Amino acid sequence: FYRYSHPQVLQNKKFVVTAGGTEESIDPVRYISNRSSGKMGTDLANAASLLGADVILVTTRPAMMVMSEVKVETVKTTAQMQAAVAVHFDETDVVIMAAAPADFRVANPATQKIKKVAGQDDLNLQLIKNPDILAGLGKQKKHQFLTGFAAETENLHANALKKLTAKNADLIIANQVGRSTGGFNADENSGTMFFKDGTTIEIPLMSKQEMALRIIQEINERL
Ligand code: CTP
Ligand code: CA
Repeated sequence: FYRYSHPQVLQNKKFVVTAGGTEESIDPVRYISNRSSGKMGTDLANAASLLGADVILVTTRPAMMVMSEVKVETVKTTAQMQAAVAVHFDETDVVIMAAAPADFRVANPATQKIKKVAGQDDLNLQLIKNPDILAGLGKQKKHQFLTGFAAETENLHANALKKLTAKNADLIIANQVGRSTGGFNADENSGTMFFKDGTTIEIPLMSKQEMALRIIQEINERL
């Protein structure tokens, strides 16, 4: 993918893209996370940049290949991701929540490494719910175009449509996770785009780079 082989249709548009699973501390050396690699979000940030947008990538996986024009902000927790996105929200045209924020965090992370105790065979962690970043933006939004993903292992389309309305998003991209092809931690992906206006677009299995470009082009047509 080369920049000048693409029309700069997104010039002057500001994008915030999130990527990767967030990490919630258990103690100073351990955390809870998920299998989201950050590839899809990183590819979306690159694709928007290729088409001329100003892009901020808020990511938990900063080591991935990012185009030099993309501004990278590194976060760990869901709360940090929410705060980073909030800073830019007013002047953003498009938000793409491709990250997999941890839905729960540890209620009281230990300040020292948790030690095994002789004779104690279980350890209970109390978790509390994290804020839903996308739903929060959905409540606040004015001109912004909000995109989310629906990572599902079952009832893909019904769950995606529920998320579209529950989060007041303009687009939800449903993708099946937890199988052998595509989804989390893979180079390829497929999915279905559900737009607020009722339009549905199927994306067959393709590289995440190609899929990212498809998604950005479809968003561009609706700005
Ligand atoms: N999301 C978010 N903040 C969270 C959790 C999710 O902004 N705390 C966003 C994700 O980035 C994604 C969309 O919401 O764009 C859907 O995430 P998903 O995990 O599929 O759905 P949830 O609403 O968290 O519901 P569940 O995990 O119970 O299916
Ligand atoms: Ca979730």
